[in-house]
Amino acid sequence: MDIGIDKIGFYVPKDYIDIVELAEARDVDPNKYTIGIGQDKQAVPQPYEDAVTLAASAADKILTDEDREKIGLFIVGTESSVDESKSTAAFLSNLLELPEDIRSYEIKQACYGATAGLQSAYDFINGNPDKKALVIATDIARYGINTPGEVTQGAGAVAMIISQNPRVLKFDHKSVYMTRNVGDFWRPTFSKTAFARGKFSNEVYVDFFTTLWRKYRAQYDATAEDFSTMLFHIPYTKMGTKALRTLEGNVPDDKYEELTKHYQESIKFSRAVGNLYTGSLYLGLLSYLVNGAQENEKILMFSYGSGAVGELFSAEIQPGFESVIDKAAIEDELANRQKISIEDYEKIYQVEYEDGASIDAEEVDTKFYLSGIRENERLYKVKR
Ligand code: CAA
Repeated sequence: MDIGIDKIGFYVPKDYIDIVELAEARDVDPNKYTIGIGQDKQAVPQPYEDAVTLAASAADKILTDEDREKIGLFIVGTESSVDESKSTAAFLSNLLELPEDIRSYEIKQACYGATAGLQSAYDFINGNPDKKALVIATDIARYGINTPGEVTQGAGAVAMIISQNPRVLKFDHKSVYMTRNVGDFWRPTFSKTAFARGKFSNEVYVDFFTTLWRKYRAQYDATAEDFSTMLFHIPYTKMGTKALRTLEGNVPDDKYEELTKHYQESIKFSRAVGNLYTGSLYLGLLSYLVNGAQENEKILMFSYGSGAVGELFSAEIQPGFESVIDKAAIEDELANRQKISIEDYEKIYQVEYEDGASIDAEEVDTKFYLSGIRENERLYKVKR
């Protein structure tokens, strides 16, 4: 049975900052941020947006009533969850008007969570071929103002429907994975911002990629010639470049050129949005689908979640995928955002709602929003 991604939709906050302006405000050479890190813009969520509302906005783009009837499994991958107990998926069930007979939960393993969700969805559809699964990657990447990680922040969500006979991407069920207890990046429960050993985290990322690529080739008797594209988890766009460069000189030059060209097509959206943590690899997939993908292409996808878990898996772009991707709407959404000043970003960043807070719908310009906090319980509304 063919199983994979049947639909994919995304949401990014409407405001962004310009990375050159961020560099100027931090007294850094802008080339470091635009070339050395490889970013142009960074999405800035409103204080009333969080992992729940971002996820709702992404799923809202693709869910139909027919999907709602067929979904049997709903998984949210996130490392920005709003509750230590209740899952983001449970918060979303009524916001997305999902029926009750659905198994819903959240997966946390840094940026790897959504990939774990997709693999579970694959197994679920294998056992329940007439059902569908909804998997959402949703996160806000926060390192703090004036930290080395600040330039690698971002926010947004990617929602995917997994089914048999998928119209976008078929998983070929070839996959290698690994886990190591590594202190490269972490966020203690008390902290709203992540801690990272930045340079070490880059080394671990590249090491995971090279180790998994070696494993994949051995396990499936594969070579780089089997793929025309490699997609990477993109915490910032230079990171995937560093992993890709390990192939230079180890694969034929024309293959390396092809992979590099396709990687550039896959990072267009990330350059304009920043890190989505769990959603980054899938924003890269969407960027590639919009900017370069061809029918029947075999692609390799590298998922990495600090701490650390990695997985390298292969898939095939489906004939007719373009009819399921609304390119114009996606490009409009990215183009029609508004730039805010660094000063405004810093103000927004520091807003923290406390118990008893109530957010007036008039102040809100998103469909899904945090409407208040009562007895420390977060409450959400849909603006109609
Ligand atoms: N012009 C052009 N390039 C310049 C430059 C200039 N004027 N000045 C510096 N650069 C280059 C540097 O040479 C360097 O390039 P290379 O990495 O190719 O050597 C690059 O800009 C960055 O410079 P530094 O390493 O000096 O930058 P930094 O110390 O400020 O830290 C960082 C960069 C480590 C990525 C930091 O932003 C960070 O800690 N980010 C968060 C952690 C992270 O994203 N890690 C990625 C792996 S972990 C992961 O993937 C999970 C996840 O999502 C977090």
